[in-house]
Amino acid sequence: MGIYSISLSFLLFACVVLSDDLPSIQIKGSKFFYANGTQFFLKGIAYQQDSSANGAIATNTKFVDPLADEANCKRDIPLLSELGTNVIRTYAIDPTADHSACMSLLNDAGIYVISDLSNPQQSIDRGNPQWNVDLFTHFQQVVDSFANYSNVIGFFVGNEVTNNASTTSASAYVKAAVRDVKQYIKDKKYRAMGVGYAADDDQDIRNQIAAYFNCGPTEESVDFFGYNVYEWCGEKTFETSGYNRILDFFQNYSVPVFFAEYGCNLPNGAAGRIFQETGALYAHNMTAVLSGGIVYEYFEETNDYGLVKISGSSATKLEDFTALQQQIQAVNIQGVEMANYNPSNQPASCPTVNSTWESSDKLPPTPDSDACSCMVKASECVVSSSTDSSNYGSLFDYVCGSDQSLCSGINGDTSTGVYGPYSMCSDQDKLTYVLNQYYQKQKKVSTACDFNSSAETQTASGSLDKCSQLATSGNATDSGNATGSGSDDEDNGSADSLIPGNWPLGAVMLITILVSTGVVGL
Ligand SMILES: *[C@@H]1O[C@H](CO)[C@@H](O)[C@H](O)[C@H]1NC(C)=O
Ligand SMILES: *[C@@H]1O[C@H](CO)[C@@H](O)[C@H](O)[C@H]1NC(C)=O
Ligand SMILES: *[C@@H]1O[C@H](CO)[C@@H](O)[C@H](O)[C@H]1NC(C)=O
Ligand SMILES: *[C@@H]1O[C@H](CO)[C@@H](O)[C@H](O)[C@H]1NC(C)=O
Ligand SMILES: *[C@@H]1O[C@H](CO)[C@@H](O)[C@H](O)[C@H]1NC(C)=O
Ligand SMILES: *[C@@H]1O[C@H](CO)[C@@H](O)[C@H](O)[C@H]1NC(C)=O
Ligand SMILES: *[C@@H]1O[C@H](CO)[C@@H](O)[C@H](O)[C@H]1NC(C)=O
Ligand SMILES: *[C@@H]1O[C@H](CO)[C@@H](O)[C@H](O)[C@H]1NC(C)=O
Ligand SMILES: *[C@@H]1O[C@H](CO)[C@@H](O)[C@H](O)[C@H]1NC(C)=O
Ligand SMILES: *[C@@H]1O[C@H](CO)[C@@H](O)[C@H](O)[C@H]1NC(C)=O
Repeated sequence: MGIYSISLSFLLFACVVLSDDLPSIQIKGSKFFYANGTQFFLKGIAYQQDSSANGAIATNTKFVDPLADEANCKRDIPLLSELGTNVIRTYAIDPTADHSACMSLLNDAGIYVISDLSNPQQSIDRGNPQWNVDLFTHFQQVVDSFANYSNVIGFFVGNEVTNNASTTSASAYVKAAVRDVKQYIKDKKYRAMGVGYAADDDQDIRNQIAAYFNCGPTEESVDFFGYNVYEWCGEKTFETSGYNRILDFFQNYSVPVFFAEYGCNLPNGAAGRIFQETGALYAHNMTAVLSGGIVYEYFEETNDYGLVKISGSSATKLEDFTALQQQIQAVNIQGVEMANYNPSNQPASCPTVNSTWESSDKLPPTPDSDACSCMVKASECVVSSSTDSSNYGSLFDYVCGSDQSLCSGINGDTSTGVYGPYSMCSDQDKLTYVLNQYYQKQKKVSTACDFNSSAETQTASGSLDKCSQLATSGNATDSGNATGSGSDDEDNGSADSLIPGNWPLGAVMLITILVSTGVVGL
């Protein structure tokens, strides 16, 4: 049985939900099921205006939570229903917003939700990947805000974070996020909800990505795998589109796989889409292996992938809306019954770590704010509260450049799976760690804790050794080989870590943003 075997917490939850709530989707092996045992296939639409993938630095950090405005949901849900939609994918959610009206409208329309946990300010950045206290806190808040809705299937911890062979080290941090969000859902005794990742389709690394997220202990691997595929454009065949390759490759995958985005708009933009690939995706041989897909996307935007054009409170169907509707209506899927399905697929083997795949299966540590604040309290030199975060980069450069070993406690090496105990702390706390290391090395001369007034001394309490024990005693099944907090650490930085010269100046710590949509890699 998969993780959705009916657990005690599931039963407890089932008692409090209203009878007209949609039945939660369950996972068994590599398939989704309704509670009644009928197999569930996604007929999804990406639903996020000004939508933005995550995993990069963006300039515009604003986003519109698509599930926070009842009027918009009332405008759009009937159109989603006309398209036979049973799932929407959202990319950026504000956990403080009230989603109850939209979630209830979706529920009544038989529509489930899979949401990304990131937003334009808070995602794992492929250029400077981290899995830290701030991100984990945000991800937890989004999970909390959705846990009560029975029509939430689960979450993506990232979208196309590793997007080509130069960013493979980011996947270790993404997988650490998978592990920790899964554990969080368990610890909170929430109803079972899946935690997955949405990958791009880069031919150099796609096999390694798929294997990486499906390998190792179940506690660390994805509950489902989303694959963003734009290979079938206009008229193609199983052979010319690569769908036969996909079919063959995922034959043995041990968790559900679906297209987390599809719907190529080449050569003539959205209006020219005929969605021939929709027919192929739900063909008999494909549905034996995959669980359907999510069309990119509902809203017409500058990238021209839209099904609907919005103008204020009105929504106009575009030409490809009708094309998709016809394809979806023609779909006739024969699934299997849960009781008759005996999964035999095994998790994949972890990919070999080499120059084209730099993420070890030894994952970064679980972010632990207690360990970080313990370290800050135990430091005698700390970042001044008035120091602007735009100066952090040059301060890291200054200290780490003077002596790399002072920074080993915050560094990480995804190839070896060795991580400093404070590599999961916030940027400010990490900076305190290295400034204090510097101050200690200079034998606490008064000038060694100034950094142009960016730092100040304080009376320390507690011991760094205790804090690093706290950091490495985490609940995670494998928090890596995090060595002590002292300057006796020997581990050197790697390509992805905080070594001098690797800092995109100053702004480096101002994490992330999504530049454009997930289709940027096309
Ligand atoms: C199971 O539930 C789904 C969704 O409500 C429904 O479409 C399907 O027909 C049901 N299957 C059976 C065997 O009742
Ligand atoms: C979820 O539902 C439970 C029981 O009805 C309630 O106590 C809890 O506050 C709800 N949580 C959220 C985040 O809405
Ligand atoms: C990876 O993609 C970035 C742009 O996103 C590009 O600058 C870089 O050259 C690419 N690297 C490889 C190895 O393809
Ligand atoms: C899947 O079925 C289609 C026809 O529906 C066929 O063209 C294709 O070759 C099949 N793929 C495989 C791998 O058998
Ligand atoms: C899937 O498993 C079968 C049986 O173990 C094996 O023969 C086949 O090569 C595997 N396919 C892939 C793509 O790994
Ligand atoms: C890295 O390992 C993969 C197998 O996981 C292999 O396909 C690839 O060729 C290797 N790359 C190098 C540069 O050795
Ligand atoms: C302090 O400021 C001076 C002059 O602006 C600069 O040269 C020096 O690098 C700064 N030191 C640090 C540690 O940032
Ligand atoms: C892990 O966390 C849970 C709840 O947060 C706690 O009950 C348990 O004792 C922890 N286990 C370890 C080994 O720290
Ligand atoms: C880290 O790894 C080294 C070498 O593999 C081992 O000797 C050491 O005990 C490990 N330390 C921890 C804290 O696991
Ligand atoms: C760290 O780098 C130094 C200099 O490049 C090297 O001598 C040392 O062996 C490295 N240590 C480790 C643990 O890799």
